[in-house]
Amino acid sequence: MSYRTKIPSEARRNFLRGTAAGTASIGLLAHGVSAQTPTQAKALPKLADFVPANARATIKLSVNGKQRMLSVEPRTTLVEALRDTLGLTGTKIGCNHGQCGACTVLLDGRRTNACLVLAVAANGAKIVTIEGLAGPAGALHPMQKAFAEKDAFQCGYCTPGQIMSAVACIDEGHAGTADEIREYMSGNLCRCAAYPNIVAAVEMVRDARKG
Ligand code: FES
Ligand code: FES
Repeated sequence: MSYRTKIPSEARRNFLRGTAAGTASIGLLAHGVSAQTPTQAKALPKLADFVPANARATIKLSVNGKQRMLSVEPRTTLVEALRDTLGLTGTKIGCNHGQCGACTVLLDGRRTNACLVLAVAANGAKIVTIEGLAGPAGALHPMQKAFAEKDAFQCGYCTPGQIMSAVACIDEGHAGTADEIREYMSGNLCRCAAYPNIVAAVEMVRDARKG
């Protein structure tokens, strides 16, 4: 049959229905969801189905060396708890989706996107934010000094996250070369494109540590 052969409109509609259903099933199966006919499909559960509307949890965090007790909603993220409950607004929110690194803090020594962690999941953890880097008398951390000295920012919005990530990058031993620094700092985006100067600041601190 030539592709130009006229197909009865009823047959064409049935074919398209079947194709659409098949495509949807393949998509669902690819995501580990079993295919269901429309009559079997159930509405997805909502958070309110599991958690009472006014539910709150009390959590304990060590933040910048101080023990803090917080009352948070189950849906509160760590970055919201730090900024809104503790007033530590140095940690920024950029994408709120784990893509930009603006919210980077150290959680039990590891750099972490605080927008991706529920505050309740961080219960008992040790958190260091940008406010916790300076010395007791306010002396800047060497990485903060290096960012200032190397002009490693323009608008400064990404800078707290960049600095937290840079501190961890060196501690992890991932600052051997400029390429390695770029690779291991690639989770922190800078819309002002201060990247060359950020790399220079990390190199400066790395070299100073070597003595
Ligand atoms: S705000 Fe958390 S990664 Fe962008
Ligand atoms: S300095 Fe502006 S986003 Fe990085």
